[in-house]
Amino acid sequence: MRILAFAASNSSISINQQLAAYAASLADDAEIEMLDIHDYEMPIYRHDREEESGIPQQAHDFLAKVGAADALIISFAEHNGIYTAAFKNLFDWCSRVGRDVWQEKPMVLLATSPGGRGGKGVLEFAIGHMPRFGGNLIGHLSVPSFGENFDTGAGKLIEDTLDIQLRGLIAKLTS
Ligand SMILES: Cc1cc2nc3c(=O)[nH]c(=O)nc-3n(C[C@H](O)[C@H](O)[C@H](O)COP(=O)(O)O)c2cc1C
Repeated sequence: MRILAFAASNSSISINQQLAAYAASLADDAEIEMLDIHDYEMPIYRHDREEESGIPQQAHDFLAKVGAADALIISFAEHNGIYTAAFKNLFDWCSRVGRDVWQEKPMVLLATSPGGRGGKGVLEFAIGHMPRFGGNLIGHLSVPSFGENFDTGAGKLIEDTLDIQLRGLIAKLTS
C-alpha cells in the first residue's frame, strides 16, 4: 500500500507536517511518501491567468501523486479559521482540471495548532468539503495544544488518548 501524506500548511517547519509524518509512520507495511505542497507552488489562481496560460504543470503533477497513492493522510494548518492560502491555491488550480481532485482515495484528515482548539474550525470545514471533491473520508482527529501533546524531538504524540485514537484511524485506513 502506498500512502501519500502532507500538511496543508504554509510553513517549512510545519507542526502539521510533523503530525502527518507521525501518523504515516503508524502504518504497518506501507510505502510512505511525505509530500511538501510548496513543491507544487503556483501563482494565485486567476481566471485571466488560466485563459492566457492554461493550468500549470504543477497541478497536473500533484494530481498524479494523488492518483498514484492508495490512501492519503492530510493534516491541516488553520489560518483565520480556514485553509491556508497555500493549500487553497493548490486546490483551486487542481479543481480546474476536474472536480474529482481526491480521486476517491481513502483519507484520514488531521489538524493541529499551538492553541487549545487544535484547528477544529478548518478540520470541520475539510470534513464537509473534501468528500464533495472525491475524498473517501475514513476518519479525522484534531490534536489541540501541539506543544503539550507532541514530542517534537521524538516525533510522536505523547498524549495516550490522542495516540490511541490516531492509531485506530490509521489501522482503519490501511485495513
Ligand atoms: C495568518 C495566520 C492565521 C492563523 N489563524 C489561526 C487560526 O485561525 N486558528 C488557530 O488555531 N491558529 C491560527 N494560526 C496559528 C497557526 O495555528 C500556527 O501558525 C500553526 O503553527 C500553523 O500550522 P503549521 O505549523 O502546520 O503551518 C494562524 C497563523 C497565521 C500565520
